[in-house]
Amino acid sequence: MNFSRRQLLGGLVGISAAGLCGTGTAGYWLKRADDGATHDYELIAAPLSLELVKGHKTPAWAYGGSVPGMELRARQGDWLRVRFINRLDEPTTVHWHGIRLPLEMDGVPYVSQLPVLPGEHFDYVFKTEDAGNFWYHPHLGSSHQLGRGLVGPLVVEEREPSGFRHEYSLSLKTWHIDQQGAFTPFMLPREAARVGTRGRLTTINGKSIPNLQLPAGQVVRLRLFNLDNTITYRLNLPEGEARIYAIDGHPIEPVPLGKDYWLGPGMRLDLALKVPAAGKQLLLRNGPLRLATLQSVQSDETPGDFPPRLPGNPVAEPDLARAQTLKFRFEWAATLDDGAGSTPQYWQINGKAWDINDTSCAERPIATLKQGGHYIFELRNLAQYQHPIHLHGMVFKVLDSNQKSITPYFTDTYLLGKQETARIALVADNPGVWMFHCHVIDHMETGLMAAIAVV
Ligand code: C2O
Ligand code: CU
Ligand code: CU
Repeated sequence: MNFSRRQLLGGLVGISAAGLCGTGTAGYWLKRADDGATHDYELIAAPLSLELVKGHKTPAWAYGGSVPGMELRARQGDWLRVRFINRLDEPTTVHWHGIRLPLEMDGVPYVSQLPVLPGEHFDYVFKTEDAGNFWYHPHLGSSHQLGRGLVGPLVVEEREPSGFRHEYSLSLKTWHIDQQGAFTPFMLPREAARVGTRGRLTTINGKSIPNLQLPAGQVVRLRLFNLDNTITYRLNLPEGEARIYAIDGHPIEPVPLGKDYWLGPGMRLDLALKVPAAGKQLLLRNGPLRLATLQSVQSDETPGDFPPRLPGNPVAEPDLARAQTLKFRFEWAATLDDGAGSTPQYWQINGKAWDINDTSCAERPIATLKQGGHYIFELRNLAQYQHPIHLHGMVFKVLDSNQKSITPYFTDTYLLGKQETARIALVADNPGVWMFHCHVIDHMETGLMAAIAVV
């Protein structure tokens, strides 16, 4: 694809800036379109000083003046229009994780658009086909841009009321900061070659072990987002009556939360929680570690019950009988350091490492799918580390695994375990060049990324 600066400055869709509301960090700024409902935002990326450690400042970067970024909301079938303004001192883009949209809106530099330079803006405009929990983040300089705080939730509400009267968004992120709030390295080579560089201070909505007050007797919806670079949180809620309603935005037949749900980087979960009697406390935990205290408070409402399952999203059902199988191997394969100070490469997909400094990589897709074709991907992890494997532009169905029993479900990110082989299937219904990568950011930046073309 060819891009010009002129195209970029005007945005790709030619919206006039007439309604732009000045210097506010966020806000609705466009008139409603005549042909349907729109949800319009101005989203600014800018430095923000945070107090993550008491008495100390952390020089974060934020979307819309908050970290995690401002929660964007739209309704299924409506349009989301975001005027993104870059007030950082380096180029960036915004990618809409999990959203099925046209390639031009996908936020991948040199594939979807040119980087948005400091002082420039870009208009992201797309229709929200699916309801659910999604999120947004840069697709450039990812380890430090996401690490510094450029991550935010995007909620697409169901067309019809879902049956939940109360809902809460919980965005998880573990900060790479020291005891004085200063940033520590976002990517250490020796960690990138292993599990990924982990932060130290875990937060929910920017707070360490927050206290969340919930109405007693109600069934509340908890929207959980893992916006971390590296960490797979092992979510549990001991003594809580919680059911999973959707995985990565896509509804399932509700099942109990169980002992530990492994929420890998980039993944989301919808939980319904029956809030116990007033005065009781529940702990949301990561393995044995407390993430949040859920405090039940007196409520005058009549007690609620678990609502029916959420309506499914309009995802095409892959036909396994006529699907073609493609195999993908994820492996550890360090290349020798050439001493030139380039980014090291430790990971490969089918023997190829992605080079984040080479803007032409996407011109050499690892697979080319026929538009409308049905495919099964066999994902084989040859490594001792797990990889949350994510595909842009399309939703896939997880079929089975050689390590666990799976009730097939739709998603955009599958947490591929150590030495696991899993099969996923999809209908290649979105033309374009789509990134296919591990969402452990250090893995992605050291080779574990590829492009898949749909033509
Ligand atoms: Cu969250 Cu390339 O994606
Ligand atoms: Cu994505
Ligand atoms: Cu990985």
